Amino acid sequence: MSLPSEKNIQLPELPQEASPAEIISAGLKVADGPVALACSFSVEDVVIVDLLQEVAPQVRLFALDTGRLNEETYEVAEAVSQRYGIAIDWFFPERDAVEKLEREKGLFSFRESLDNRHECCRIRKVEPLQRALKGLGGWITGLRREQSVTRTGLAPLEVDTSNGGILKINPLLEWSEAQVWEYAESKRLPVNKLHRQGYPSIGCAPCTRAIKDGEHPRAGRWWWEDPEHKECGLHRR
Ligand code: ADX
Ligand code: SF4
Repeated sequence: MSLPSEKNIQLPELPQEASPAEIISAGLKVADGPVALACSFSVEDVVIVDLLQEVAPQVRLFALDTGRLNEETYEVAEAVSQRYGIAIDWFFPERDAVEKLEREKGLFSFRESLDNRHECCRIRKVEPLQRALKGLGGWITGLRREQSVTRTGLAPLEVDTSNGGILKINPLLEWSEAQVWEYAESKRLPVNKLHRQGYPSIGCAPCTRAIKDGEHPRAGRWWWEDPEHKECGLHRR
């Protein structure tokens, strides 16, 4: 069975245990236009960059520089770019919107309320994402099902109705954290140093902290909020 979309994508049936490479290849066949990887330089995303070199080296990488990322994230971005000899398409938030936000609400408004947090994520992440996706037939993400209660209902290939019905490809959806690390270590991939300092999930510096033993892997993201709110709007459904 295949589902129609605004862009008329016919989602193919995938084998039950499709590998990340099979998911990417199947997605590229049906995407209506070029596909790019949304890369936050997490270990998941670097695994996908590595897989792409064999499966689809033409796929470009884009990254959203929120202006509040950790130095360690910029360092691993440079390391990835050099290792694979690839350019990264960086997207920055609109200057006027950031200036207005900072002048009117200060530099930490996102701690004051959920609305303020969403406002900052909208300016620094969601609007730049919308520009990054313009003209694309699909995008690849490093989402994994076990990361969050908000991600349990995802599929490896989806029609992204929040972004004009383009294809969304989640090749690592069924992988565990252990599988991701096994791959990264076997290939000696460049990884964000913060991962080894207690940060399984890394976003913007002021909204991410290390977790304690036994805490949920996303407990360090927006730690002052409830788990069901821990999305920034990049992955609306
Ligand atoms: S978030 O929504 O909570 O910030 P998370 O950090 O788990 O997302 O990352 C999930 C996926 O979203 C990443 O694997 C990547 O595909 C995409 N992503 C997140 N942040 C960025 C970013 N700054 N630039 C590009 N892609 C990103
Ligand atoms: Fe702003 Fe924090 Fe969202 Fe980054 S994660 S865009 S700093 S609210």
